[in-house]
Amino acid sequence: MRAVRLSGTGDPSVLRIDDVAAPRPPTGDRILVRVAASSINGTDLGLRRGVPGAAVFGRLVGLGFDIAGEVAAVGPAVTAFAPGDRVAALLPHNGGGQAEEVVLRQGRAALVPAGVDIVEAAGLPLAGLTALQALFGRAGLGTRPSARVLVYGAAGGIGSFAVQLAALAGAHVTGTASAAKRDFVRGLGADDVVDHEGALDGRERWDVVLDTPGLLDPVQVRPALAPDGVLVTTRVAAVGTARELALGAVRRGPRFAFVATSARSQDLTRLLDLVRRGLLRVPVDRVVPLDQIAEAHRYAESREVRGKVVVTISP
Ligand SMILES: NC(=O)c1ccc[n+]([C@@H]2O[C@H](COP(=O)([O-])OP(=O)(O)OC[C@H]3O[C@@H](n4cnc5c(N)ncnc54)[C@H](OP(=O)(O)O)[C@@H]3O)[C@@H](O)[C@H]2O)c1
Repeated sequence: MRAVRLSGTGDPSVLRIDDVAAPRPPTGDRILVRVAASSINGTDLGLRRGVPGAAVFGRLVGLGFDIAGEVAAVGPAVTAFAPGDRVAALLPHNGGGQAEEVVLRQGRAALVPAGVDIVEAAGLPLAGLTALQALFGRAGLGTRPSARVLVYGAAGGIGSFAVQLAALAGAHVTGTASAAKRDFVRGLGADDVVDHEGALDGRERWDVVLDTPGLLDPVQVRPALAPDGVLVTTRVAAVGTARELALGAVRRGPRFAFVATSARSQDLTRLLDLVRRGLLRVPVDRVVPLDQIAEAHRYAESREVRGKVVVTISP
């Protein structure tokens, strides 16, 4: 079968489409999915650019963490799915979803409801789950009526879902975006859109700040948080952020939290149901066929993207 592999690390020219062995028939609670589409996430771009060991890792396993497609076979302990079902899933850290077939545990997948497009379903798992779990898990948005929420990086994958989910929960939502993407973010339901630099100047006190690219320094954000406010980040990059995380456990006042996305089937089902009901939109900016994977990566990291780039794999 065809699968995306890395020939090294660096720019998108290191991406290859290899002929590799198809997965073995599923055992236990695993399902074999014929992949129709897989979206590109920041995580794919990071692996390709060169997280240490990524070249070997990428050759062994492959890129692609979001998939949507059709169940082709099920293991003997599978209870939730049958061959022919349409599913979406978030794969584990070894990825491998940008391939014609993939085997995964049933608990990572959810049924794609009738009426939801398979390409849209492929754009949902990692970014949608991260937004949902950051806002309602780490930030407790469900118990913060009329919260003032700042989504930093609101036009990206995670950001575009976070804006919509926070607005649905009744929050007052402000998004940050570069100038050309402001209308896009407003169209997602943001009450205000500001540039990245203007959001944390201390004039506003936020109940929740979601830092989607993981670039903010918690020490600098702290004065812009309400007394029980929280900054949730997708990345603990610096020593200073790790220190703030540890301090948060013992200190009063604004908190700092890290979201580690979990492939919870119930959460993915909840998101897909919102899509089915027309309450959540999967903003697919561009759909690219598998043989143009390098072009898809180039576009995904161009800072032009509004929402998601999805790669189509099998018809
Ligand atoms: N912790 C976890 O479990 C987890 C899970 C999923 C993803 N992640 C991480 O989350 C990050 C974001 O993922 P994504 O899929 O949402 O990425 P994405 O679609 O590429 O979006 C990135 C967003 O960040 C903004 N941005 C980029 N560079 C910026 C800068 N220098 N200053 C301010 N804003 C900037 C962009 O805004 P503009 O282009 O509008 O300026 C864009 O809206 C990735 O690094 C990924 O690895 C972590």
